[in-house]
Amino acid sequence: MAHHWISIACALVFLISSSMASAAVVEHSFHVENLTVTRLCKKQVINAVNGKFPGPTIEVQEGDTLLVRVLNKSPHNLTIHWHGIFQLLSGWADGPNMITQCPIPPGKTFTYKFKVIKQEGTLWWHAHVSVLRATVYGALIIQPRSPKSFPFPKPDHQVPILLGEWWNADIIQLENEALAVGGGPNNSDAYTINGLPGDLYPCSQNHTFKLNVVKGKTYLLRIINAALNNQLFFKIANHKMTVVALDAAYTNPFLTDVVVVAPGQTVDALLHADQPIGSYFMAASPYASAPSVPFPNTTTRGVVVYDGATTLAPLMPPMPAPHDTPTAHHFYTNITGLVGGPHWVPVPTEVDERMFVTIGLNLEPCQENATCQGPNGQRFSASMNNHSFQSPTTLSMLQAFFFNVDGIFTDDFPDKPPVKFDFTNTNNSNNMSLLFAPKTTSVKKLKFNSRVEMVLQNTALLTIENHPMHLHGFNFHVLAQGFGNYDPVRDRKKLNLVNPQARNTIAVPVGGWAVIRFIANNPGVWFMHCHLDVHLPWGLAAAFVVENGPTPWTRLPPPPRDLPKC
Ligand code: C2O
Repeated sequence: MAHHWISIACALVFLISSSMASAAVVEHSFHVENLTVTRLCKKQVINAVNGKFPGPTIEVQEGDTLLVRVLNKSPHNLTIHWHGIFQLLSGWADGPNMITQCPIPPGKTFTYKFKVIKQEGTLWWHAHVSVLRATVYGALIIQPRSPKSFPFPKPDHQVPILLGEWWNADIIQLENEALAVGGGPNNSDAYTINGLPGDLYPCSQNHTFKLNVVKGKTYLLRIINAALNNQLFFKIANHKMTVVALDAAYTNPFLTDVVVVAPGQTVDALLHADQPIGSYFMAASPYASAPSVPFPNTTTRGVVVYDGATTLAPLMPPMPAPHDTPTAHHFYTNITGLVGGPHWVPVPTEVDERMFVTIGLNLEPCQENATCQGPNGQRFSASMNNHSFQSPTTLSMLQAFFFNVDGIFTDDFPDKPPVKFDFTNTNNSNNMSLLFAPKTTSVKKLKFNSRVEMVLQNTALLTIENHPMHLHGFNFHVLAQGFGNYDPVRDRKKLNLVNPQARNTIAVPVGGWAVIRFIANNPGVWFMHCHLDVHLPWGLAAAFVVENGPTPWTRLPPPPRDLPKC
């Protein structure tokens, strides 16, 4: 009798443990090396991971530990950033160059190790040094921990859709040349879907992404904007999509015929193959928010082919016009967070730190006797609260924080702009007394667990523009967005404290503002910057230093032993 009971108990234990698949350590090796690819009629050598472009898709379950051993076989200094990962107590693995680490030199390795907790959905990884992310990027997908599932009917298939940008030239050289003379970025030659430009570009007929579908099935599209300098509209002819997550945070289902995605952002959307058997183009084209900034006005497309389709003339979706801000704004502002869904975090109702931060372009004086190619013969620059961020060169900011090293950064990043002016009045756009922003490496210090509210306000200096502002290490709630100058009395009433979106990248409306909140519950140094790539070297960035908490498990552990030397 007794041993009968024991076997029942054993069976129970077995049942319980097998239904809760335990957290795993997922290991990957990244070899960053040269890869020869042909695009747009031209053979080119690019930097790529494991001989793949885009790089490998990493897939984990929520709760897993990810370990990626990076071997830098490229000729450039390298870091990899895990865009959107919270990096709770693992800030050393975040990856932005000179913020949390010095770069991995050519020939050397570094192992990024971190736990993926309390988030699921679509994120991505990319190089975070110079402009290497143009080709060094890939998807990072966090599946629900089994036996849990999605908060929506389980899709039949999951498909990463990585939108990118392609130059028919050595992009690193192009960027260095542009930065040397202070000019604007070179337009890319193509947009891409999963590395392929599609048939609207020269010699690209065979470089068209194809998604085979079966009528009646559902596909979870994991859309990532890995483009450098452009926001994108994404459509599929005759099909609507149901958005279910943004930036790996679940949303209420949102039915739409167009997805809008800014660099750094991701959109999870369900595609139901519910149309007549046939083939349909999927396409991405630019959302150009600034009225007069040049942009590549081209379209990348792939094709959705139903099983059994015979026609070879796919339907093309009509794309929004590039300056169609109302369509972008509608998408960006009408999606709400899934209250009570997996990993939903309530909005902080009290605030400890209130910040009002201007974001926009500036000028930097041209060096004496030099010729510069920015506006008015000066150099392009950019700033947050008139501080134009400059990376340190001798030690990373996180090392300076951890080892108490002076002289790497200052903690005087201001809570408001030094001068108050009519921020979005275009009459100010060439006001010389406002245009120049000093270069600084300044941070805002935050006490552990402080609740931060930030109003991000676009300025009209040089031009108004929608800037996708990305915060490392945290998701924030997006409480409200609008055009013109933020009005603390009028606009405070618009704050959504109930079911706002949670995001890691907010596309602040062109000539407008956004209000975000987050809780600084992770000690370390956390970068915040515009994800339009060229705005980063121009200085549209700042950093938070979040102090250690009171307990051993709220303190940043020491750096891993293989952290690259400076
Ligand atoms: Cu995806 Cu700091 O970047």
